[in-house]
Amino acid sequence: MNPRLHALITALPKAELHVHIEGTLEPELIFALARRNGLSLPYPDIDTLRAAYAFTDLQSFLDIYYAGAAVLRTAQDFEDMAWAYLQRAKADNVVHAEIFFDPQTHTVRGVPMATIFDGLARARRRARDELGLSTQLIMCFLRHLSEEEAFATLEDSLPHRAHFIGVGLDSGERGNPPEKFARVFARCRELGLRVVAHAGEEGPPAYIASALDLLKAERIDHGVRAIEDDALLARLAAQRTPLTVCPLSNVKLRVFDTMADHTLPRLLRAGLRATINSDDPAYFGGYINRNFIETFAALPELTCEDAITLARNSFDASFADDAQKTRWHAELDAVVARHPL
Ligand code: ADE
Ligand code: ZN
Repeated sequence: MNPRLHALITALPKAELHVHIEGTLEPELIFALARRNGLSLPYPDIDTLRAAYAFTDLQSFLDIYYAGAAVLRTAQDFEDMAWAYLQRAKADNVVHAEIFFDPQTHTVRGVPMATIFDGLARARRRARDELGLSTQLIMCFLRHLSEEEAFATLEDSLPHRAHFIGVGLDSGERGNPPEKFARVFARCRELGLRVVAHAGEEGPPAYIASALDLLKAERIDHGVRAIEDDALLARLAAQRTPLTVCPLSNVKLRVFDTMADHTLPRLLRAGLRATINSDDPAYFGGYINRNFIETFAALPELTCEDAITLARNSFDASFADDAQKTRWHAELDAVVARHPL
């Protein structure tokens, strides 16, 4: 790869808008937390666990991802996991992260909602104070569960309302369309929560349209299958709806056979506000900069200008206020000025 492009990508300040905190749990930390909590794992060692990360589709990943998350028991566990991610993100010049978490994965094991929020809040405070990194939380509902369970989770989260800005929808997409959650998302909007949803990752383009129409999603997570529907592409471009694209995830979960098949260049050329993100970096082979680098290395039609656009898009697509966005754009301009193209 062109060393100038590599240096630019590495140096660019960026926001990460699609990262599941449970997907940042590295095998080493899974084993350390299992030991600390007196739990046994179905894998004899770290290498065997890592070797199991050979996924055939989204569900084959989710099975391992939920099993890994089962080592999280205490607020300290949630803090350690999030703090490890935030330090790693800082090293990639992430200046702002809007982080997903899946409370139902934990409450079903008897972990109180307050434990999750307390641990994540401690890591977020440290990131602000020690790393100068701003963060927000987005609570995801698991779409393979029922809407009633999502309502119960929402109710359970309301004492912690000040600690999260929005809600999302994740887990197995096929057969779990957005319409299943229309009422709970309407309630979330009434509560002033921001709204995003995974759609068009494995599911059809129609799920993207219903996430927009029925859930009123402000960003689409993944959304890469929009490429199959020209009218939808035109709509996403006209509305400037952000897509939080996760290239390494898409290849690992076989949405695309190889990175060279990824449609990100076509999405950008169609005028979509695409961003690059890591999704579940501990499972998919890299954090945000590795996602940029592998994507740009495999797709030579992507240019330095595209890297800058993707970083700019990440700020514009964030839920930060306009004054903050202006400051980030100025920081980005200063970095670009130091990296002649
Ligand atoms: N949960 C964690 N990662 C996910 C993904 N890529 N798609 C859906 N749900 C998820
Ligand atoms: Zn995701």
